Amino acid sequence: MFVSKALKINSKNHLEIGGCDCVDLVNEFGTPLYVMDEGLIRENCQLYKNAMDKYYNGNGLVLYASKALCTMAICRIAQQEGLGLDVVSGGELYTAIKAGFPMDRIYFHGNNKTKEELELAIDNNIRRIVVDNRQELNHINEIASRKGKTVNVSFRIKPGIDAHTHDFIQTGQIDSKFGVALENGEALEIVTEAVKLSNINVAGLHCHIGSQIFDIKPFEEAARVMLEFIAQIKEKLGVEIEELNLGGGYGIKYTPEDDPIEYDKYIESVSKVIRNVCENKGIKLPFIVMEPGRSIVASAGITLYKIGTIKDIKGVRKYVAVDGGMGDNPRYALYQSKYDAVIANRPDAPKTEKITIAGKCCESGDLLAKDIMMPEVKEGDILAVLATGAYNYSMSSNYNRIPRPPVVLVKDGKARVIVKREDYNDIIRNDIIPEDL
Ligand code: LLP
Repeated sequence: MFVSKALKINSKNHLEIGGCDCVDLVNEFGTPLYVMDEGLIRENCQLYKNAMDKYYNGNGLVLYASKALCTMAICRIAQQEGLGLDVVSGGELYTAIKAGFPMDRIYFHGNNKTKEELELAIDNNIRRIVVDNRQELNHINEIASRKGKTVNVSFRIKPGIDAHTHDFIQTGQIDSKFGVALENGEALEIVTEAVKLSNINVAGLHCHIGSQIFDIKPFEEAARVMLEFIAQIKEKLGVEIEELNLGGGYGIKYTPEDDPIEYDKYIESVSKVIRNVCENKGIKLPFIVMEPGRSIVASAGITLYKIGTIKDIKGVRKYVAVDGGMGDNPRYALYQSKYDAVIANRPDAPKTEKITIAGKCCESGDLLAKDIMMPEVKEGDILAVLATGAYNYSMSSNYNRIPRPPVVLVKDGKARVIVKREDYNDIIRNDIIPEDL
């Protein structure tokens, strides 16, 4: 009945997640509150990992794309489930280092890594730097030679695949700030250059075709295009590329209308394509890497709010405001993303009216859901917005100087805080009034 299998209705007729009653969670931790179901995160990790074992003889590594939700505890869970980690900034890498994540399972992405970030990665001997461009390649070679190291790199390639997703999150085409394109020869140039550099080891290729994709075809097509490039590199440069990273982007169920593919099916289908193309082209089977982010954590998360102001503008719209908003979930404001929601203190109430859920920020676009069917609500009701585990906390801000909510991890009826609630002191923590002011 809910978009996420993490949720059910308990005997008190309250929403329950990870064995915890949402009303109790709110009484204990307050609102707004991010809640993450540990069991479902682990289950999702295993689904991918088992599929890699089953369909590709375990000749690969599943990375958790930590941009979806990067905290030390979440890194620890990914580590315990045997996943690697995709990081895209010094901050994400630092989080992983502090969480004790094994460095030989970390991949570092990004289109404009600073020299400091590259040093941090090289000093910590991470498994792979995914090189975005020629300038970066030269920076890495310089740093590595200064340190007397050889760095294992792969290359971010634009395979030119249209994955039919929201324009903002589509990254596989030539008009993109990420990577080097195949079609204008840049990709072959950078690999040709790299094999000549003394402190660089060319280990793999990478592509990422977009996010929240519901179709297997673009992934199959990307695998095919990338393998053809691997064959071309072998023919032209005599270099065998050992690793192919196909990125992330697998779609999840945000609303009842969304119909995602079982995550393991991606590995199953793509594995078949890889075997076929490798046989046809006479290249050896690459080590496969994939990088799901959203599909590991999104459905495992909900956000709980208290309902405040209700404004029924007759004949126009009914606005229901909650005590959070675009600060903790900017996805409607950014992408007009759709969410499903329920009243946590009576989740089975029939949805009888159309409302628009607004946040408390000083901004008209601060909405969480527009024109969705909900039960009649009253002040003090607890609103649960569903499937908020990915790209919510990680994209949160202190706009309007609103403190960020805490993140609580639930399992078997136990709730543990993994990120503390911010308070007003956190808000002014970095402020300085200069003495001469
Ligand atoms: N690998 C790379 C290189 C990526 O750029 C991304 C996402 C992923 C993996 C993970 O993709 P996922 O499995 O999570 O779809 N803020 C947007 C999503 C941006 C995704 C950026 N890259 C949103 O809230 O929808």
